[in-house]
Amino acid sequence: MDDEIFSKYLKTESVFKDQQSLNQAWVPTSKQKIICRQNELKKLLLIHRPIIQTQGEFSTNTLVLGKGGIGKTVTIRYFGKRFREAVLKEDIKLTIEYYDCLQHRTKSSILRNISERLHYSAGHGYSDNEIMEQILKELIKRKESLLIILDEVHKLPPDDILSLLNASIGFGEQNTRFCIICISRESDWFKVDNEKISSRIQEVIKMQPYNKEESFEILQYRRNLAFRDGVLEDDVLELIADIVYEQKNMRTGIDIMRSCGLHADEQMTSTITPEMVLQSRESVSPSFRADILDNLSLHEHLTLWAIAAALKHTGNPFTKVDESFEFYKMKCEELGYKPHVQMSFRKYIRNLSSVKAIYKEYLNPTSEKKGRQIQIKLTDITPEKLCDYFEKRIPPKA
Ligand SMILES: Nc1ncnc2c1ncn2[C@@H]1O[C@H](COP(=O)(O)OP(=O)(O)OP(=O)(O)O)[C@@H](O)[C@H]1O
Ligand SMILES: [Mg+2]
Repeated sequence: MDDEIFSKYLKTESVFKDQQSLNQAWVPTSKQKIICRQNELKKLLLIHRPIIQTQGEFSTNTLVLGKGGIGKTVTIRYFGKRFREAVLKEDIKLTIEYYDCLQHRTKSSILRNISERLHYSAGHGYSDNEIMEQILKELIKRKESLLIILDEVHKLPPDDILSLLNASIGFGEQNTRFCIICISRESDWFKVDNEKISSRIQEVIKMQPYNKEESFEILQYRRNLAFRDGVLEDDVLELIADIVYEQKNMRTGIDIMRSCGLHADEQMTSTITPEMVLQSRESVSPSFRADILDNLSLHEHLTLWAIAAALKHTGNPFTKVDESFEFYKMKCEELGYKPHVQMSFRKYIRNLSSVKAIYKEYLNPTSEKKGRQIQIKLTDITPEKLCDYFEKRIPPKA
């Protein structure tokens, strides 16, 4: 690489304060936290509290279900970390191991790893059952508890899941000190679940996607950890929260933040703009569906074009009815179409919102005043791209 590029980029300050904190594997440190998952953490704590209260002679199997990107992995890993710290204070021996079953695809692989972690080697030539027995005996002998987290558990064969669950609840054994937390998306879990398996699960925690406020709160927290002050302002962050809420997936939001930060650093600017958000949103998950536009009328197209033109012109993350109506009239005039009245324009906005071509939101939801102000935003395409799109498709009136 050029010396010039090297010295230029190494000397400028990054927008990131802690880029690592946006990595997929991030688990909060003891000074950080997980927000909006207090109920789940409380449930997990109540389920596993007997490990402390019974001096470890306790076993249970828990299943955590929920859609993708809603914080299952990060919440359970965080719980594991905090629980271990709490247990250590009580002078109780507990080993917690996390297994991503995308990597550990069989019971065998997990058991062998556990025996290594417990610092004794099962040696070759032992069957899985023998290793399992050794592990359980070893735990009892040492008065030590074991909690394993099996993430993406549906990647294990159902028989392997069953025999791990059996071992944990101590089928035929006394004083088992072995607990399991399984994690899976509901849609994957159904593929492996059967009556035997579900009868060995004592607790199920179903996690729901975040609502709009929670999405924003989480993004704010993650932004504060990752970026310097002033890099990503609240109004731009709200655009990301809209996308997270729309997709019911926090991972998209975290990915957008990381990608915008890199983009800002590359451009050597110190702020993340709405434009950058929409651009990286496309690269994060390109889902602008041009087909939704096919069924719209000419004036709905012109309305959407006007909204895009207003956003492009002002550079703001949202526009309002009055402002975009001005652009609509200009657009109509430019192309030789007779503009419709503002009441019709409002109807077009409602229609565009119902097909999710735009988001609209009341600025002052509590006000009873008629004609409340609404904020209008694009969903998943940049104003520039949308203007280009219409420029090519809507010709002037012949
Ligand atoms: N409550 C939260 N606080 C902070 N960050 C969160 C929270 N929930 C989710 N995240 C972040 O969102 C991203 C997705 O979360 P996570 O990987 O835990 O999802 P998941 O439910 O395990 O998804 P999958 O089913 O795809 O594995 C991660 O980057 C995670 O750090
Ligand atoms: Mg996960």
